[in-house]
Amino acid sequence: MNKRVRKAVFPAGGLGTRFLPATKVIPKEMLALVDKPIIQYGVEEAVASGIEHIIIVTGRGKGAMEDHFDHSFELDATLERRGKHDLLAVSRGVSGLARISYVRQKEPLGLGHAVLCAKEFVGNEPFAVILPDDVIEAKVPCLKQMIKVFNEKGGSVLATMTIEGPGISAYGVLAGEQDPNNQRIYNCTGMVEKPKFEDAPSKQAIIGRYVLTPRVFELLEQTTPGAGGEIQLTDGIKALLKEEKIFGYTFEGKRFDCGDKFGMLQATVEFALKRPEFGEKFKKYLKGLEL
Ligand code: G1P
Repeated sequence: MNKRVRKAVFPAGGLGTRFLPATKVIPKEMLALVDKPIIQYGVEEAVASGIEHIIIVTGRGKGAMEDHFDHSFELDATLERRGKHDLLAVSRGVSGLARISYVRQKEPLGLGHAVLCAKEFVGNEPFAVILPDDVIEAKVPCLKQMIKVFNEKGGSVLATMTIEGPGISAYGVLAGEQDPNNQRIYNCTGMVEKPKFEDAPSKQAIIGRYVLTPRVFELLEQTTPGAGGEIQLTDGIKALLKEEKIFGYTFEGKRFDCGDKFGMLQATVEFALKRPEFGEKFKKYLKGLEL
């Protein structure tokens, strides 16, 4: 078995109903955070973490993602003719980002099922999963931090963050003990998908970054529908825990939930404030608002 994490799976087959009507035609992964589609942030993070092959699990009506990461001959030729070299570099940069394969999830049976759709592309080697809705800003890319933990610990790694209060019910929640030598690492003892607040085993919510061993595919094949009637990735990983060590890892960085309108607005404001071209102007504008 190849031990190096070279491949990343992006489940992107969901309907994006939370952003209707914007997502009636446009995949939610293509909604722009300032000026870049959400999924591109994840792809750039994967590439910056050493990933060589990306597998995007798509669904019906999601073709815009394939076009986005492909060459756009007409656009590039027009930009070249008009001498718009900066924009040409942006357009070409997107299509040259990574080797990307696409696989269709024919039925929306859940996140675990979406990951399982990538089995043939991944084969018998460890791999990453990136949920594109979770945009993570970090000095060292979140996935890179996790691959380091995977290499050191030799077991699957799940990104976690502390969530206070009833909001924890929207997540997979980890049970485990903190590693005495590294406060960021949890030795996982269990996990529950979307528990009731009273039943949550900890405040450690699983966030959309995973480094997994390929055994999880076989276990996902046997996983029956769980929370929400869907085949849950959390349940597949829980089965893996019976056979292998699994670690929670509190990453360094800030996560934005771009699968949610409020989270998307927060990310938009914070990312815009950091833009050198108009960050200062935007800050002045915000300060001048009568709030
Ligand atoms: C999914 C996972 C959940 C995880 C969350 C992170 O849920 O099933 O375990 O905590 O992503 O964003 P979803 O947000 O797709 O409902």
